[in-house]
Amino acid sequence: MCGIVGYVGPQDAVGVVLEGLRRLEYRGYDSAGIAVVADDVVSSAKKAGKLANLEKVLADRPLPESTIGIGHTRWATHGGPTDRNAHPHVSADGSVAVIHNGIIENFAALRAECEAAGVEFTSETDTEVVAHLLAAVYESTPAGEGRLAEAMRAVCQRLEGAFTLVATHVAEPDTLVAARRSSPLVVGIGDGEYFLGSDVAAFIGHTRQARELGQDQVVEIDRTRGLTVTGFDGTPAEPTAYTVDWDAAAAEKGGYDWFMLKEIAEQPQAIADTLLGRLGEDGELVLDEVRLSDQELRDIDKVFVVACGTAYHAGLIAKYAIEHWTRIPVEVEVASEFRYRDPVLDRSTLVVVISQSGETMDTLMALRHAKDQKARVLAICNANGSTIPRESDAVLYTHAGPEIAVASTKGFLTQLVACYLVGLFLAQVRGMKFEDEIASIVDDLRGLPDAVAEVLTGMEPVRELARSLADANTVLFLGRHVGFPVALEGALKLKELAYIHAEGFAAGELKHGPIAVIDQGTPVVVVVPSPRSRNSVHGKVVSNIQEVRARGARTIVIAEEGDDDVVPYADHLIRVPRTPTLLAPVVTTVPLQILACEIADTRGYDVDQPRNLAKSVTVE
Ligand code: F6R
Repeated sequence: MCGIVGYVGPQDAVGVVLEGLRRLEYRGYDSAGIAVVADDVVSSAKKAGKLANLEKVLADRPLPESTIGIGHTRWATHGGPTDRNAHPHVSADGSVAVIHNGIIENFAALRAECEAAGVEFTSETDTEVVAHLLAAVYESTPAGEGRLAEAMRAVCQRLEGAFTLVATHVAEPDTLVAARRSSPLVVGIGDGEYFLGSDVAAFIGHTRQARELGQDQVVEIDRTRGLTVTGFDGTPAEPTAYTVDWDAAAAEKGGYDWFMLKEIAEQPQAIADTLLGRLGEDGELVLDEVRLSDQELRDIDKVFVVACGTAYHAGLIAKYAIEHWTRIPVEVEVASEFRYRDPVLDRSTLVVVISQSGETMDTLMALRHAKDQKARVLAICNANGSTIPRESDAVLYTHAGPEIAVASTKGFLTQLVACYLVGLFLAQVRGMKFEDEIASIVDDLRGLPDAVAEVLTGMEPVRELARSLADANTVLFLGRHVGFPVALEGALKLKELAYIHAEGFAAGELKHGPIAVIDQGTPVVVVVPSPRSRNSVHGKVVSNIQEVRARGARTIVIAEEGDDDVVPYADHLIRVPRTPTLLAPVVTTVPLQILACEIADTRGYDVDQPRNLAKSVTVE
């Protein structure tokens, strides 16, 4: 949510910053802007809408040449997506330019203070207040090296909320200063050049050497003095160095029309990467990164899974698997609700937080609440070095590679696989009596990349079907058992990409009300469990298909190969390979991803950047 880029080095800053913004645009695309320092002036350009609009402005009115610059792509919070509200914000005296990701919660009081001092605001944003404060505090900070950093520290101490800030000052044309609290910021170290980014995608085309900043830290990047990191109180700090394990090609579309299509196609490899090194030869699970002792894991008497959106759906599926394999009660909750209802947590509670980006503010706040209550927190995360894994007691990375499309696909499937690993590992450590079943499930996990690859080869009929659904007003999704969260996920994908009303239901709930909305021709997608499933919900789902069809629904049935019971009632039948019940969501989700993507494309929408959304949601 909001992309931030900064550059100091020998290259043309506008080019480098624009390239970074292009790679970060998935974080927000309501407006974009850029500022450089040149010839003793801060010059900026900004424009509402996608980055392409800013590029047009720059083509007409280029900024002065400079080798230091900052840029921003915005997901609007305070103030609408207008030119005026676009970042950077420049102080009234023109000395400071600031970009910001997050929310400054006490901005109203600070704004009133600035206005009382005679400052006239030009935007409705919370960010502008920082530009004015920084300019004023800079004036009263003793001259000398590190003056802008010192002023930034003083300003940060007055800010409440979550923020990443990057600032330039006209009097320090070789220096960028940035600060972070609960919002992402990484530094890239090149050869004689430095980069700042909300994530490493911002500079992956230039360097893979990164530095991770801690909470409440200020970083000063000076062309000659290099990198200096301190806490908000000025205490020197050492950033953590790491090397990014993917390259620029991974963040390109690679010939696909959409990042989403590329990421869907990458799912077999992504799942294989999640499993890599974690399944021992003898069927034992090897999760060295789970830095919780066997005793701590044995002491767990309750699991909470906490996440948002698609990651929450992964959590819903995890509940079925973890409870079945471990017999530990599992509760699943959306992160934005979790901490506000005072959940019962203690030392023997394991809280599993799931987040692709590792930056989702709702999830981060839930994590902090869980830690305050002394619970153990295990993160399932994709983005290396992000805040959520850093603050958790243990982390299982999904290793899915960068996910650029706003709608999560490979992020979701790999979260599912990681959840299975956690469930099986808990069962293993606790010596559960399902040894034979667990050994065979471990084998089945190994087969998932091929199973997903097989689904992907048969998607042309789904694409055709999607084109015929492009005018639908409502699509319902039904499932039972683990098929229910898959139905929720299918509905979410369709809503967010194609802007079609869609709802997922537990198939058994339909008769308790929602069946009333079914009309002649209403498309109803049904996720059918395996006829071999132990809990025999298969027959009940087949009955549910008949019930909706009897009321005029157009049925779209996802069923495993060899399931002939569904054939008479399916207007459209999508086949998936036979997969054990608990693992089936990994294959049944894939056609739903393709369906949503193709419907959105047919309707002429931007599949990768749906309206009103942003990739990583760093505000509550
Ligand atoms: C939907 C989607 C979102 C995210 C949610 C959590 O396709 O991508 O619902 O799943 O915003 O994001 P992370 O996993 O980054 O915490």
